[in-house]
Amino acid sequence: MKSGQGSRTADGAAAFRASHYLYAQDRVFEDPFAMAMTSKGWRAVLSNRVANGLVFGWLLRGMAPVAAQVLARSRFAEDVLATSVKSGIQQYVIVGAGLDSYALRQRGASAALRIFELDHPATQSSKRRRLSSLGVALPRNLEFVAVDFERQELFAALQASSYRADRPAVFSWLGTTHYLTPQATLGTLRSIAQHAAPASEVVVDYSLPKDLIARNQRTALAWLSMLAARLGEPIIGPLIPDELHAQVESLGFEIVEDISADEQALRYFANRADGLAPPAGCQLLHLRLRRPATAGSG
Ligand SMILES: C[S@@+](CC[C@H](N)C(=O)[O-])C[C@H]1O[C@@H](n2cnc3c(N)ncnc32)[C@H](O)[C@@H]1O
Repeated sequence: MKSGQGSRTADGAAAFRASHYLYAQDRVFEDPFAMAMTSKGWRAVLSNRVANGLVFGWLLRGMAPVAAQVLARSRFAEDVLATSVKSGIQQYVIVGAGLDSYALRQRGASAALRIFELDHPATQSSKRRRLSSLGVALPRNLEFVAVDFERQELFAALQASSYRADRPAVFSWLGTTHYLTPQATLGTLRSIAQHAAPASEVVVDYSLPKDLIARNQRTALAWLSMLAARLGEPIIGPLIPDELHAQVESLGFEIVEDISADEQALRYFANRADGLAPPAGCQLLHLRLRRPATAGSG
């Protein structure tokens, strides 16, 4: 993160969701608020079909799989949330929320659901300014919690909100582990294992190390690495699935699913005319907390 400004990768992710919402034939994920939340430059591109085609269809064409990754992770998280809400979970913690618009789209998912958006103060205040300039009425079940994970722990920050540590929650943590060291990612998962109530769920995406991706399938991730580094948020946190699984199990999590790019393609992108599919090397992991706070000391 560059100091003093909102996350540019969050802005880019919202631009991908917006372009997909506005111009794709079959939508994998519907985000009608995405365009309005992006920065001025993206809005200029997105509001014009020709400009959108030039930028997303030509200039950034190598990034199409990354756009698919952004769509797949949000869809996956909200599918998990929908199932969890049906089974009685009433707290949704969006870690590193960026320009996530679930709170505006929730359409009464559950009258009792509480939503906590955690993000870096710079990203969060820029989002709040944007929402306020749009005149969007914020839902009463949404709470913003500003936190810099380089200085403060997730649960220390949540204490400033009405989050109930004795009740299960769904934690979505999307598009962020890539930019953290593996130690920092595990530290946050450990903190969830130690402080969240049993039966809490975590949805998190992560990247595989380059060596675990076939040589001829590395292009999209190479593009993403280059772009992320230019935006000041370099990718430093690939994780090895077998090691990660052993580590999170020792913390007390059950692995519900860890789906590869190929499995995501089958689930969400089958039979598309535009060939959109996520890049090799991006995984979607769904965990459920099995044991209470005493689990795994790390
Ligand atoms: C790529 S964006 C993902 C945003 C959103 N989850 C999505 O899927 O569109 C990464 C997010 O991590 C947040 N972030 C990065 N470093 C952070 C830090 N030190 N503390 C808190 N949040 C941070 C950024 O503000 C940004 O919202």
